[in-house]
Amino acid sequence: MANVTVIGAQWGDEGKGKIIDWLSNRAEMVVRFQGGNNAGHTIVVGEKTYKLSLLPSGVVQGKRSIIGNGVVVDPWSLLEEIAKAGAAGLAVTPDILVLAENAVLVLPLHRELDALREEAASQKLGTTKRGIGPAYEDKVGRRAIRAIDLKDPASLPGKIERLLAHHNVLRKGFGAAEVDAGALLAALNGIAPSIAPYIGSSWRELDAARKAGKRVLFEGAQAVLLDIDHGTYPFVTSSNTVAGQAAAGAGVSPRAIGTVLGIVKSYTTRVGEGPFPTELKDATGEKLGERGHEFGTVTGRKRRCGWFDAVLVRQTCITGGVDGIALTKLDVLDGFDEIRVCTGYELDGQHFDYLPADANIQARLVPVYETLEGWKDTTAGARSWADLPANAIKYVRRVEELIGAPVALLSTSPDRDDTIMVSDPFVDR
Ligand code: GDP
Ligand code: IMO
Ligand code: MG
Repeated sequence: MANVTVIGAQWGDEGKGKIIDWLSNRAEMVVRFQGGNNAGHTIVVGEKTYKLSLLPSGVVQGKRSIIGNGVVVDPWSLLEEIAKAGAAGLAVTPDILVLAENAVLVLPLHRELDALREEAASQKLGTTKRGIGPAYEDKVGRRAIRAIDLKDPASLPGKIERLLAHHNVLRKGFGAAEVDAGALLAALNGIAPSIAPYIGSSWRELDAARKAGKRVLFEGAQAVLLDIDHGTYPFVTSSNTVAGQAAAGAGVSPRAIGTVLGIVKSYTTRVGEGPFPTELKDATGEKLGERGHEFGTVTGRKRRCGWFDAVLVRQTCITGGVDGIALTKLDVLDGFDEIRVCTGYELDGQHFDYLPADANIQARLVPVYETLEGWKDTTAGARSWADLPANAIKYVRRVEELIGAPVALLSTSPDRDDTIMVSDPFVDR
């Protein structure tokens, strides 16, 4: 089965968009399977920069793109993004894009609840306030409005009533105004004609693709350390971000996910709250952030920065199901005299070679570092191994050894073409 599933293997923003765009050249379809417009995937092609949130990164190369059932979709945001893509020269028509009929909708009341909760909490999560958590809660609570409901206006009043019976009680508790059923109905009916042409069946599309022998690329959002089960709970997102979710979130066999490529930044960043053992709150952390332009794509927030944590990535390769990695932003490490890599943690005289599950322990871990020599020459824009300084190669090889997974791709700038292929994930296993 020549499919590839791409997932983030740290805390997000590893460069998934860049790698998916590069790989989508080799695939006929690109499929999102979880998350929503909390994702921000950047693709740079020459002078042009595309920032995608809900649209699968395959749209940049005009590939058939599916928003699978596992995604939560803010329909207003989707239409805005389609319009923005259009203005940037990407015609995202129903010939290109399919929205799974059984995908759950994110509504304004979800965004509002997300914000109300964050504002009220003494320990904030630092969410993107896109309503992602509340929308997934309604999905699991079996009261969500789904894409298909937009095609059945007669069913909407009953569904809205059920949804508001829950939300208006919550809103009252927060001192927020109740949502008016008639206004929500009008808003949904207003948007339905624009969304309806995109609505289809993701599992049937993918089944037809399988029968036709087409290659599919599954596009993960967020990352394993933000996974609702395997991440740094409660400082996580509200979906499963591991490779296995691609099957459930698109409606395909677990065998169809193919080779799993984990995207890994050459250092570590995190946006939002939560434990981060190798975080650097000093000049080195600032330097990483400046060199890496570490500001959130979605919220513009400054990302926290630190050294590469091999303990975390070794663990996420296991829990995420990663076969090989794409190592990105190697160029950001150019010019450092020394580069540190975390190989374990200590706490109260105890050594850890994994991330313990307890958030209080996670917050107190002291990283144990190994120091590698930096390199003076630049890796920026390198397109072959031969162009890499010897110490950069040593760094990459040491990372592979420590995480127990091979590097399949190496990225040396935001641009699509500045990518080194070590092995083709669609072919080599
Ligand atoms: P995603 O959420 O995983 O798709 O990542 P984002 O797009 O949010 O953030 C990654 C940022 O790093 C984007 O601005 C990319 O253009 C940029 N980027 C990706 N790969 C590289 C690389 O190899 N080097 C540099 N310098 N920037 C990169
Ligand atoms: P991409 O796909 C980085 C973080 C938020 C917050 C936590 C929960 O671009 O890598 P949520 O709004 O999902 O309930 O927020 O998860 N977060 C991300 N961090 N990259 C992302 O997506 C993220 N999506 C959510 O900052 O800490
Ligand atoms: Mg991002």
